[in-house]
Amino acid sequence: MEKLLSTKTDLKFVPDSYILPSDTRPGTTKVPPLETIPVIDLKQEPTKLIHQIIDACKDFGFFQLINHGVEEKLIQDVLAVTKEFFELPAEDKAIFFSDDPKKICRLYTSIDYLKEPVHYWRDALRHLGHPLEKHIQFWPHKPPQYQEVVGRYSVEVRKLSLYLLDLICTGLGLEPGYFRGETELTEVHVMSANHYPPCPDPSLTLGLPKHCDVNLITLLLQEMDGLHVMKDGQWLSVEPIPNAIVVNIGHTLQIISNGKLKSAEHRVVTHQKLARTTVGSFLLPSYSCQIEPAKVLIKDSNPPLFKSFTFKDFLATYMTDTYERKPPLERYKLQVY
Ligand code: OGA
Ligand code: NI
Repeated sequence: MEKLLSTKTDLKFVPDSYILPSDTRPGTTKVPPLETIPVIDLKQEPTKLIHQIIDACKDFGFFQLINHGVEEKLIQDVLAVTKEFFELPAEDKAIFFSDDPKKICRLYTSIDYLKEPVHYWRDALRHLGHPLEKHIQFWPHKPPQYQEVVGRYSVEVRKLSLYLLDLICTGLGLEPGYFRGETELTEVHVMSANHYPPCPDPSLTLGLPKHCDVNLITLLLQEMDGLHVMKDGQWLSVEPIPNAIVVNIGHTLQIISNGKLKSAEHRVVTHQKLARTTVGSFLLPSYSCQIEPAKVLIKDSNPPLFKSFTFKDFLATYMTDTYERKPPLERYKLQVY
């Protein structure tokens, strides 16, 4: 528990165990606002909408969604209640603190504090969402409105994620309902709140290292900049748009699309004076789910680019490769592309 950054107040310098090797430090150069990720309006003519989503997922792997139908008040309440959670006295948070990644509701710090060679400047609260009745009892009881507010959002954001997957399904030419019904592909819903406290020297450390998400699709709430996306060898800053939702494609969807959509690398930088809190929603397959390029996409002219494997197997290599800073998809590729 004392490892949590949010319980260490008044840090005057970055502890050695958080200082990154010089080649991965963000340094002091600001990411230039050359280009930003696409902004997509969900309330528009479907054919145009699907085109915009597919193009954004091909070129950037990321976009920001506006007019998405999730009430602004709900978004504000989710962010507020999450910040309040991280500001609670240490004893109220201690019951959730755990080094066991299998816990349904878990408060932890960095990524894998016990094993990693260098720590990242983030605390995280992670819990399962769907089905809500099964999991909500394990979520924080403090702040008192946490379960109600985050519960309502969790239902809405999962619905929105499945709707986006339906649009992507049509855009890719997969059979209708590919991501719905009996499928194990979207069985797991993880809600993960990230808290990046102020950092005495943001040039030396990162909130999260360069990584791609492993799941199908991630929807993120942010109020402040700090998220960087890699595009053509350059970092782009994801500028906050009030009440917008940042959407990105994970490795699993990249594989299903046979490489048509990309999961882009991203990282999080910290601020010297301000704390940043984000709320992520991740749709993932079950462990036993077989992941492979969708069969309808495979033709002589579009041979499979990836092997078939279970999600459990993939998760294990994703973790080890990410530590060793190797791109985890490499070992599943059948061809260079
Ligand atoms: C993540 C992530 C970005 C952010 O949780 O995988 O990339 O800005 N978060 O918190
Ligand atoms: Ni991520």
